[in-house]
Amino acid sequence: MTNALSSGLCGTRILGTGSCVPDRRLTNDDFARMLDTSDEWITQRTGIKERRVLDLRTEGCSTLAQRALERALENAGIAATELDLVIVATVTMEMTCPSVSCRIAGNVGAVNAAAFDLVAACSGFVYALNVADSMVRAGRARTVAVIGAEAMSSILDYTDRTVSILFGDAAGCAIIRADPDPSMGCIYQHMGSDGKGGQALYIPKRETDVPESDRDNPIRLGYLRMNGKEVFRFAVTKFKEVIEDAFAKTNLTPDDVSQVICHQSNIRIIDAAREKLNIDPSKIYVNIDRYGNSSAGSVPLCLDELWRAGKITKGKPFMLVAFGGGLTWASSVWRT
Ligand code: ACO
Repeated sequence: MTNALSSGLCGTRILGTGSCVPDRRLTNDDFARMLDTSDEWITQRTGIKERRVLDLRTEGCSTLAQRALERALENAGIAATELDLVIVATVTMEMTCPSVSCRIAGNVGAVNAAAFDLVAACSGFVYALNVADSMVRAGRARTVAVIGAEAMSSILDYTDRTVSILFGDAAGCAIIRADPDPSMGCIYQHMGSDGKGGQALYIPKRETDVPESDRDNPIRLGYLRMNGKEVFRFAVTKFKEVIEDAFAKTNLTPDDVSQVICHQSNIRIIDAAREKLNIDPSKIYVNIDRYGNSSAGSVPLCLDELWRAGKITKGKPFMLVAFGGGLTWASSVWRT
């Protein structure tokens, strides 16, 4: 990537999308055979029926990220050499060095691209898309692959029924490119964080990473810990606030957008926001029943399914919204 590929303000556009989920399904009934839980409990409390899981002996986050990138390149009809930046949002990279982005850029032949991983948990893809749009608009990059990819199964304690039933593995990718029309692309973005709330959702590496409030609970280092009730309360409030803010700042109403693409965390969280904001159910895509919560993979997986189904219509804006560990949250409103 060079420092000044173009000059002056430009817009952006999505050239293509791709996604990948593992073949192996883990159903609620599979969980009921392993843990003290049931299909009825999981379905009612979360909306999840099944999720996909990798074979971690031979596959990982990079496997999904690379496949999603390859599919997006194919969908966009461009060569990997045209990319000048690859960003992978993830909290489940096999290694922090080399990053997932460097590994997959190398594997697909993106020899002209800079590459870095971005950590913002479930908000990661929306954060990365906002960063990519900003870099393109500033003339620092022309064509960027933005990927959200997660191997959640690598950080789940499958003896903990309160957390393990929620998550699945997935990746999605969007390729964006500079557009001469500055009104195209991301017309509004917001990103926020609250480090003080981070203790509600964390992956401890050392004993000292475990907050005082959790010290009496059985902790397995390297596995995701979550205070479900606290995250639920935060999510319901934050989702509504972030969507409301994005509509207000863009002077758009729910009628004006083709889709509000929400992070798939829990159907009750999505429904609560939808009902409070009076958004038509047809405008809020839901696939949590099939894939569970795939953290940074969830929003781009929805985007790819919608894109390929022709639901991201030209001339009608759409919105992406996510919240997650950190705590973090983000929105991005796009004009296509
Ligand atoms: N099966 C059966 N019973 C269960 C299970 C399970 N899998 N898990 C918990 N229970 C029990 C609890 O032990 C509790 O029993 P008790 O009443 O005897 O103590 C009872 O069910 C109720 O538990 P709650 O925690 O009150 O259940 P709740 O309705 O809050 O649902 C859930 C739990 C689904 C985790 C919910 O709190 C939630 O969705 N929180 C947000 C999670 C989330 O969105 N996380 C990700 C956000 S960020 C990111 O994506 C990384």
